[in-house]
Amino acid sequence: MVGILQLAKDRLAQNANPNGVYIDFTMGRGRDTLFLCSIAPQGKVYAFDIQPSALEQTADLLAQHNMTNAELILDSHHNFAKYYGGEIDGGLFNLGFLPGGDKSITTQRGSTISAVKDSMKALKHGGAIGVAVYPGHEEGRLEGEELQQYFSTVDKKEYDIFIYRLLNVPESPYMMIIERH
Ligand SMILES: C[S@@+](CC[C@H](N)C(=O)[O-])C[C@H]1O[C@@H](n2cnc3c(N)ncnc32)[C@H](O)[C@@H]1O
Repeated sequence: MVGILQLAKDRLAQNANPNGVYIDFTMGRGRDTLFLCSIAPQGKVYAFDIQPSALEQTADLLAQHNMTNAELILDSHHNFAKYYGGEIDGGLFNLGFLPGGDKSITTQRGSTISAVKDSMKALKHGGAIGVAVYPGHEEGRLEGEELQQYFSTVDKKEYDIFIYRLLNVPESPYMMIIERH
């Protein structure tokens, strides 16, 4: 089975802009930041997390792979436009908490929805954003429900929004992919 993150990464890689601007909205240990750096080698990646340890681990991972095209920012993703106000080619939200980390430091509905809405406005035509949701914990379940509620109201002339979900495993993580026409 293809993992849900891989689905979004494949979509982003298909239309990658090597000079583009991408955002990792939830940096964590940096694997997603590393991926975004690899599809935009002459471009720029902005990566956000609220935990200093995420920035340290991601900086180490990028250095191991000689990636120098990312800016790592210690702030909540809903503030991303303070650091970059232009258009983006794509991005990833890998919501929830860091596996093996502090489970109380998890993404929260209010700031997640605000960041997702602003990222959709910043998204270039032809670009895509992946949002991975983990409904196995309560905040994750509610976050996913609110996102789906919001997505169901989005103008279909402007965006397509897909959901990839294992219907026979109700609490398993799922991916939503936003594409701008
Ligand atoms: C599932 S992990 C991300 C995994 C990561 N992308 C990777 O490749 O390792 C979720 C991350 O979101 C971060 N986070 C929680 N709230 C946030 C917020 N408001 N803004 C940015 N990051 C946040 C957590 O600190 C955690 O590191």
